[in-house]
Amino acid sequence: MGNQNTVLENTGSVRTECVKQLIQKAYEAQAYAYVPYSDFAVGAALLCADGTIVTGCNIENAAYTPTSCAERTAVCKAVSEGRRAFRAIAIVGGHGQYLAPCGVCRQVLMEFADPDQFEVILARNEKDYQVLLLRDLLPYAFSQADLARV
Ligand code: THU
Repeated sequence: MGNQNTVLENTGSVRTECVKQLIQKAYEAQAYAYVPYSDFAVGAALLCADGTIVTGCNIENAAYTPTSCAERTAVCKAVSEGRRAFRAIAIVGGHGQYLAPCGVCRQVLMEFADPDQFEVILARNEKDYQVLLLRDLLPYAFSQADLARV
C-alpha cells in the first residue's frame, strides 16, 4: 500500500482529462469502502492545488456515529500529509446515482476550499457526471471569516 497519491500536471479549471482521471481514482477508492452496516460504498478523489490526487472511501463503525464519509476520509488524509488547498473532488458510489456530499462533508470542504472555485464532480461513470461549485452546495456557509470580531 504505502503512499500512492497520483500527481496531475494541471492548471486552471479542471479539464475533461483530469475529471476522467479523478473519477477513475474515486472508483479505485470505492473498492476499499468498509461498509458492513449500510452496504453503501462510496469513493472520492480530491484534487489538491499542487496536482496531487488524494483518495478516500467511507469507513463505517459499529457505533455508527464515528463513520467517516469518503469525502472526509480524503480531506483528512490530504491535510495530514501537509496539503490544505484543494481544487476539486470527484464522488462515486451508492446505487449509481449522482451522489452529493452530506452536509458535514460540505462544511469540512468549506474549511479548505474556495467555494467560488472548488468543483464537486458527481459521477455516475467516467462520461456521465455533473460539476457543481461548492458555493452552490453550501450557500450562506459559516466559515473562518465569521469568527472575526466585528
Ligand atoms: N456516505 C459517504 O461516504 N459520502 C456521501 O456523500 C454520503 C454518505 C456514506 C456514509 C455511510 O457510510 C454510507 O454512505 C451511508 O450513509
